[in-house]
Amino acid sequence: MRKPFIAANWKMHGNVQSINTLIEGLKQPLTGVNEASVVICPSFPYLSYVNNLIKETNITLGAQDCSDQQEGAFTGQVSASMLKDVGCNFVILGHSERRALCQETDTLIAEKVQAAQSEDLTPILCVGETLEAFEQNQTQAVVLSQLQTVIDHVGIDAFNNIIIAYEPVWAIGTGKAATPKTIQDVHQFIRNIITQKNKEIADKLLILYGGSVKIHNAKEIFMLPDVDGGLIGGASLDPRTFSGICYAVQEENT
Ligand code: PGA
Repeated sequence: MRKPFIAANWKMHGNVQSINTLIEGLKQPLTGVNEASVVICPSFPYLSYVNNLIKETNITLGAQDCSDQQEGAFTGQVSASMLKDVGCNFVILGHSERRALCQETDTLIAEKVQAAQSEDLTPILCVGETLEAFEQNQTQAVVLSQLQTVIDHVGIDAFNNIIIAYEPVWAIGTGKAATPKTIQDVHQFIRNIITQKNKEIADKLLILYGGSVKIHNAKEIFMLPDVDGGLIGGASLDPRTFSGICYAVQEENT
């Protein structure tokens, strides 16, 4: 049985005041979410701050990126060990915004996965195709090559401690989620890739969907057999919406 998992990707949003309001608004509703893991991923400067606010709750902490390097003269970068030090257990890696805006390659992302795991952080590894690739029926080829680079780099056993998020680029922040059929097909495809290497790992692997998950479509997405939860951007910034999505994942996956 896979425990449902939901992660909030706050992206570059928030300040002390809005974070106080958001966490305060989540505390009470999330007391009823005991059967799903809930992770919040704020921007770097607020990690410690959020970690303090969530102390008495069942929310855990994640970051939105980490360096592939361990330590040294890398101005502006943040290492996996620093994230661990301030209370993170998870880190989003390979988000399409970083692939596109920061020119992150599959190889760099694979190195980041390794760096994160060496500090006992669980990577939430994002994969997904652009609109152009989707329209050319290249989804599977893109997702396979993104995953294969990581498998080649860290080995299949590392997937005991990796969460995958399928996020079609064209669905992120557009209000246009992929259809349930597309989502299930791609999730099944991902699980099959891992099954071919190791069935036991594939059966346990959490595969999240991300891309315009909202309160109105959460249930139909989370009820799909190979969807184990979600990576939520815009809808995670409102406590009522995000807690509603957390309940949906718990109800549909347990
Ligand atoms: P969205 O973002 O929910 O706003 O579409 C998801 C993501 O980028 O992780």
